[in-house]
Amino acid sequence: MEREVERYRRPTRVLHWVNVGAFTVLFLTGLVLFIPPLGFLAQDGWTRLLHRIAAVLFILAPLIYVLLNWKASLSGIKDAFVWGAEDIGWLIAAPRYYFLCDEESMPPQEHMNTGQKMWWLMVIVFGIVFVITGLIMWLFKETASAALLQGMVLLHDIAFIATGSMFFVHIYLSVIHPLMRPLRTGAWSSMARGKVSAHYAKSHHAKWYDRISKGEEVKSG
Ligand code: HEM
Ligand code: HEM
Repeated sequence: MEREVERYRRPTRVLHWVNVGAFTVLFLTGLVLFIPPLGFLAQDGWTRLLHRIAAVLFILAPLIYVLLNWKASLSGIKDAFVWGAEDIGWLIAAPRYYFLCDEESMPPQEHMNTGQKMWWLMVIVFGIVFVITGLIMWLFKETASAALLQGMVLLHDIAFIATGSMFFVHIYLSVIHPLMRPLRTGAWSSMARGKVSAHYAKSHHAKWYDRISKGEEVKSG
């Protein structure tokens, strides 16, 4: 059997899939409020209730994860905010790589490539926007001024449009795009089983693969 390397530890995978569940419910129940013709679905209030239950899960799951894995969380959060010259290389190569599947054009990447870092950064920043604006709309609906509530709805909607559209790009790039195959040992497997083949790690994340092969650092997310 082909050699495999660990890419995501179990706690990270559990957090990812719990968040996928919560986000999907929030997205669908939010859509019902966002698109007026779908408003009839929210009339008896059950979608609003589901939105609040999923919101509690969406807030608690990362908090529990950070408390139990604070070292890994801090270094993971730092990764999202540290950008360098190699990220420019990714941006230049990305169109050839993703549209023409030209693997030679892509410079060696770290544990997370620049595109993954962009999604991770969005999840952190807009996740905080969702929580703050959502809690104000929820808890201060009766007491806050109309202008403040309108501002919160606007920010909540901006976060919804940005993450909602990238959500589909993320699914495409992590499961469907031909370069992320095969499912059993490629990108999908990294989040499903925690492992990818050494070949996949080498061709997609050469810088990270080099470090773990030399035993310098066994960093998995
Ligand atoms: C993280 C915690 C979140 C909280 C506490 C929260 C809370 C809320 C609340 C209280 C409302 C007003 C609903 C009502 O009038 O009954 C709302 C609306 C909405 N939420 Fe969330 N939400 C959260 C996350 C999300 C996420 C992740 C999404 C989408 C991916 C989302 C999408 C929406 C949309 C589209 C609306 C409708 C806004 C409008 O009327 O234009 N929410 N949310
Ligand atoms: C059905 C929906 C989803 C599927 C099938 C999915 C699948 C995956 C897979 C396979 C990976 C590993 C990619 C790799 O390392 O090569 C991944 C990574 C990740 N996912 Fe998801 N995901 C989904 C939804 C979400 C949602 C809703 C969020 C956040 C709210 C999210 C956040 C992340 C992050 C931050 C990473 C690490 C960075 C990256 O690879 O982009 N995912 N996902």
